Amino acid sequence: MSLYNYPEYYDVAFSYRDVDLECDFIEKKASLFGLCENSAMLDIACGTGSHLEQLLRRGYEVDGFDISPSMVDFAKKKVDNACFDSHIWVDNMVAFENNRKYGVAINLLTGFNYLLKNEDALAHLGRVADALESGGIYIVELNHPRDFITNRPSTANTWVESRGQIEVEVDWDHGRTDVDVLTHQTESSPHIVVKDGGRKLTVDMQDRYRIYLYQEMILMIQCNGCFELVDARGSFKLDNPLDNSRDSWRMILVLRRK
Ligand SMILES: C[S@@+](CC[C@H](N)C(=O)[O-])C[C@H]1O[C@@H](n2cnc3c(N)ncnc32)[C@H](O)[C@@H]1O
Repeated sequence: MSLYNYPEYYDVAFSYRDVDLECDFIEKKASLFGLCENSAMLDIACGTGSHLEQLLRRGYEVDGFDISPSMVDFAKKKVDNACFDSHIWVDNMVAFENNRKYGVAINLLTGFNYLLKNEDALAHLGRVADALESGGIYIVELNHPRDFITNRPSTANTWVESRGQIEVEVDWDHGRTDVDVLTHQTESSPHIVVKDGGRKLTVDMQDRYRIYLYQEMILMIQCNGCFELVDARGSFKLDNPLDNSRDSWRMILVLRRK
């Protein structure tokens, strides 16, 4: 069972995010480092499509895909209900198919960490490079490196969010194993309790992902050869550097297609 099979509850669980601020970041970095203002965008591992929809509202052409059919159905409905046009499809970011070129690609909230092996990450970067126009940018949001190499995590991993009659209580790091020293993968069993009116649902996920540190990302980018790293930030505040301060709590990389 996975929270990704319950997109409505995923959407509530992660509603603490400031989607407006995050989209401001995407727009500003795109115009600073990327192509012309009206480039088409691709939301990779788009989940429930919150950023996709917000960027459509701002006048961009935006497509997206996700490996989870439930997430894709939900994102499509969200976009249809708002009367926007967008191609949203089920696909795997390791080997996705696209039939147009984009000026901007985004991969938010640690979707990149589901690329478990070096070969997957390199194949993915190759696919993104093919999907982007020359000069296009790829914005990737990962965990802050300190989350894995210190005992001072940057984020609280238990929280409660609600919307209307739905309340979602999340223990995201429940049962987290140590990072495997050979594969750099870690496993956890996120425990989620949903109260929806009179209904109660418990979701116990099995989640496996790969950690990526900053220097490792630099090597991945060099190995792939199609991108240059043009910016690294510690949050979606535009000028927040990636460093070891408390204000720096994510690792957000901006790659530019050569
Ligand atoms: C933490 S969610 C982030 C979703 C969205 N980017 C957001 O900001 O809310 C991770 C997403 O990655 C998707 N995912 C996992 N592995 C994938 C893969 N190989 N290809 C495409 N999507 C994948 C999951 O289905 C899930 O929707």
